[in-house]
Amino acid sequence: MNRFLKLTILLLYGSALQAQQLSKSLSAITNIQETNESIVLTTVNGKVRIQVYAPTVIRIQATKEPTFSEFSYAVITKPSKGLYKLTKQEDKLILKTDSCELVIMQNPLRFILKDNSGTVLNEDEAAFGTSWIGEEVTTYKKMQEEERFIGLGEKTGNLNRRGEGYTNWNTDFFAYPSNGDPLYATIPFYIGLHHQKAYGLFLDNTHKSHFNFGASNNRFASFTAELGEMNYYLIANSTVEGIIKSYTDLTGRMEMPSLWSIGFQQCRYSYYPDKEVISLAKTFREKKIPADVIYFDIHYMDQYKIFTWDNKRFPEPKKMLTELDGMGFKNVVIVDPGIKVENGYKAYEEGKAQDLFLKYPDGTNYTGQVWPGWCHFPDFTNPKAREWWGASFKGYVNDGIDGFWNDMNEPATWGQRFPDLVEANFDGKKTSHREWHNVFGMQMARSTFEGTKKLMNGKRPFILTRAAYSGIQRYSAIWTGDNRPEDDHMMTGVRLVNSLGLSGVANAGYDVGGFAGEASKELFSRWMQIGAFCPFFRSHKMVDAKDSEPWSYGEKVEEIVRNYISFRYKVMPYLYATFYEATQNGMPVARSLAINYTHDPLIYDWKYQNQYLFGQSILVAPVVSYKEINKVYLPAGEWYDLNTESMYQGKQELYVETPMETLPIYIKGGAIIPMQSVVQSAKEMPFDTMYLHVYKGSSNNTFVYYEDAGDGYENNAGKYYKRDIIFNAAKNELTLTAVEGNFVSKFKTIKLMLHGFNNTTFKANENAVQANREIVEMIPGVSQFDPIGKSIDGKKSTVLSLNIKNASSKLTVSW
Ligand code: GLC
Repeated sequence: MNRFLKLTILLLYGSALQAQQLSKSLSAITNIQETNESIVLTTVNGKVRIQVYAPTVIRIQATKEPTFSEFSYAVITKPSKGLYKLTKQEDKLILKTDSCELVIMQNPLRFILKDNSGTVLNEDEAAFGTSWIGEEVTTYKKMQEEERFIGLGEKTGNLNRRGEGYTNWNTDFFAYPSNGDPLYATIPFYIGLHHQKAYGLFLDNTHKSHFNFGASNNRFASFTAELGEMNYYLIANSTVEGIIKSYTDLTGRMEMPSLWSIGFQQCRYSYYPDKEVISLAKTFREKKIPADVIYFDIHYMDQYKIFTWDNKRFPEPKKMLTELDGMGFKNVVIVDPGIKVENGYKAYEEGKAQDLFLKYPDGTNYTGQVWPGWCHFPDFTNPKAREWWGASFKGYVNDGIDGFWNDMNEPATWGQRFPDLVEANFDGKKTSHREWHNVFGMQMARSTFEGTKKLMNGKRPFILTRAAYSGIQRYSAIWTGDNRPEDDHMMTGVRLVNSLGLSGVANAGYDVGGFAGEASKELFSRWMQIGAFCPFFRSHKMVDAKDSEPWSYGEKVEEIVRNYISFRYKVMPYLYATFYEATQNGMPVARSLAINYTHDPLIYDWKYQNQYLFGQSILVAPVVSYKEINKVYLPAGEWYDLNTESMYQGKQELYVETPMETLPIYIKGGAIIPMQSVVQSAKEMPFDTMYLHVYKGSSNNTFVYYEDAGDGYENNAGKYYKRDIIFNAAKNELTLTAVEGNFVSKFKTIKLMLHGFNNTTFKANENAVQANREIVEMIPGVSQFDPIGKSIDGKKSTVLSLNIKNASSKLTVSW
């Protein structure tokens, strides 16, 4: 080769390499093709496919490969052609649905999403649109004036994520700092808010991804996948609630949880031997602190080997679990994916023989270290492995295990450097760790859920997971991993759970009390109060820390904790119906104020961003443990102090006294809150009276009351009791619509508890009835356990009450 040719080749090669390092965006459309249910647009440097999943949901894919990816672990619905009309104009195409319009600029190819009124919801950054740097693909969106960003699942930081950047890579992050990122779960879905409008955006790419909400720049919000397709869904709903509904239409919703699994749960790394567990259960009952679940952390296993018991610590597991059950306790065992490499160990031998483990490219099983030592790991993206793992719970289920806590499923290994070359089946589309990593935990939870559901004789399995990907809500609840016993962490946990709620995960919680270390009395007590208003309510503590049960922090804390846990059990009918709502429309149990007060700037203020609604009408204002006076913000509406019954007009900042025994809680005017007598567990029947608390307000409200057997699946065959309870402010009426379903309610009588009403004469279906005065104490004060200490008065107040029969016909009470 002559020197000139050599030089030319070198120069060309050099500039090609250099070009790869530069960002290159989609260019002009050269071809438009409409197929069955998609529009494919070709450009010189990549092609794009557009599909419509619902009038509010449009998917955009961009790739440099010849074909588009058809597979998703997250999305469970299909696109349809009948949902849009495409028209061509000179420089653009317009895709119109009943709810929105997608403007597709032709040169270069860019997208603008508008609502029906023509307001821009979301638009590509005009210069950059979707671009590649090498294999990495990014979509840049113009940052709208005053735009706020919420959601993105289990992410630390402020409620409004503007100015921040995040990475999605499921990470075992022991004792993470309260601004740590990334944590355990990947949910690449956020909601943008501006100009009184809202939209949702879901990036469905399981590779490591990055979100930038104007971090280090004032020009764009962007999302990047390090590899694979640009594949995102735009959701054009006008409300946050509507967006959550659309997102959960796409990725699914939770099933109805068993009643016990929404009660209080006691955990510890680890309770053993059996005697200790039994004595723990007895202490709860003796002390009348309601609780439903005791956990078995890793020490219950023989040398941490999954599907075994330590025979010395737990010689007769079945007997012990039966005894617990007799006391009204359900149980949950931890399950870790690492399978000890040990000849003769059943799970290892089976997994090896059936070829179910993750593999290196040379076909040998990957070996990494975790609790049991050197382990292989089931490939949960292999349907065969999922089937095997799910069926392997037979022994535990026969022993009487009720719930399964999926941990270390990022997957976590000592060293925290899982080799990228390790391969997984990925449901037949074999791929490297870079692509399967973020779905491993979700597929483990799925396999555990599907397997145990088959084994449990018609009972609802309870699954808890640490690692997750979008859609996890179909299989499992999430807890936020190894937090620390610090006030800041308590608040971070509240925001993590609220953010998970905005991102499709209605059932989530944090380790109450802080996992990694010891909490002060004040912190433990405050955290338990807040935890009583968390969807998943579990206290947990790491090994080698001091005891951390409700009675471990002295008499006063014990009383406070008993009072708040008891309140959760009183409010159980409301909470259960709230979970039902999650199964229907994806609305979370812990509702960031951004759902109902989206465009009120004060709810994003750092002082108030932790406040949330527990269900429809209970406003919880988490406050730190070291301040006895705190500020609270009440958004629009009327609000009743839960304890004093004082009514406040909303849009008001208040200074409130927050002694150790008082968490500020407010009830919304118009609220409908069905309650019951205190029970010690889900197994215990409450009195046969439902206390239906109604708070007078100036706006209308509807509460969907739902009840069923609290377990099993007969509800799917019509065995439920459901009715709307409607508060009509203008008509001065409360209506209970006729009961739907054929389940007989456990409540024979409904006692209306009327808050904020002055009149004492009411009409029930046109017949005059006289209300009684009744004293209520929602959360009792702390009694005088120390005779020479200061006694704290209970907070009793008077309301009106009316007894009505719980008949299935329509009932209207008016005043
Ligand atoms: C992990 C879990 C923690 C558990 C511990 C021992 O750190 O996050 O909850 O107690 O492992 O199993």
